[in-house]
Amino acid sequence: MVDLAAIVADIGAEMAAAPERGVPAQYIPPLACVDPARFGMAVIEADGTCHLAGDADMPFSIQSISKVFALTMALGREGDRIWSRVGREPSGSAFNSIVQLETEHGIPRNPFINAGAIVVSDILLARHEPRELIGEMLRFIRTLAGDEDIFIDEAVARAEQQTGFRNFALANYMKAFGNLQNDPARALGVYFHQCSLALSCRQLAMAGRFLMRGGVNPETGFNIVSAERARRINALMLTCGHYDGSGEFAFRVGLPGKSGVGGGILAIAPGKASVAVWSPGLDAKGNSQLGKLALERLAARAGWSIFDAPVAEGAR
Ligand code: DON
Repeated sequence: MVDLAAIVADIGAEMAAAPERGVPAQYIPPLACVDPARFGMAVIEADGTCHLAGDADMPFSIQSISKVFALTMALGREGDRIWSRVGREPSGSAFNSIVQLETEHGIPRNPFINAGAIVVSDILLARHEPRELIGEMLRFIRTLAGDEDIFIDEAVARAEQQTGFRNFALANYMKAFGNLQNDPARALGVYFHQCSLALSCRQLAMAGRFLMRGGVNPETGFNIVSAERARRINALMLTCGHYDGSGEFAFRVGLPGKSGVGGGILAIAPGKASVAVWSPGLDAKGNSQLGKLALERLAARAGWSIFDAPVAEGAR
């Protein structure tokens, strides 16, 4: 019998004592000064039972994890039309890489690298003003999490605006290929604000519940997206959610997951749990060092890897 409460408590204690914690992102100034000693974890089971460890209620910058929610919105609004403007293949490159865009005519490999997420912002902007769309994104994530306290950290958004030279390069380059319909600055304004959403592990795991429930929002019983789309978002998280570290994450953890340079990771055990971890120290590929380790241990101890053969509960 899996004792999830004990597993989560043990992992929390192990992570508090872990010596190798990585280094917080340096290129976005407000993220550089977050204390690397922080670690939080929230596991929400399919029946709503919630297990917390460490700094699970401390808000952090979700950064690229927001790309999952923006993609969900874009699929809801535009459906499969988005796939003519963004691909579905792992890039094998860094999250902010520009190299493939030249040979691939300004079509980003997937919606989870920066270039792909900027295209998704551009798609969402159709017929909207940036401020209106940013407000809609905030309302969407508050609804998913069932929590009105979620906010956008304007200081982080401003810092990204001032230092995001690579993102400006990506957006301008895609504009030159005709794959942005809006002015690059407008698409980037939306992108920087979605990256600056601040959520705690508990709020993030709550917001991810629809992905463990075949697209259904447990609060209302209504579908956020169809079961097919939820399955496909999970597939993209597995193959592309950790950039050039996605293969390693699948190998070690075996769950769909999406990381952000704020040190968070959202991971989904389909039918079983929505999990959020946070520790600001990153590995060389921009993924949370302790977040990955915590999820590796959770998936192994709970038997949640999607590659595990199903075993009768009592036989574990
Ligand atoms: O655009 C950026 O570089 C950041 N706002 C987000 C990057 C990110 O989270 C990559 N994830 N590991």
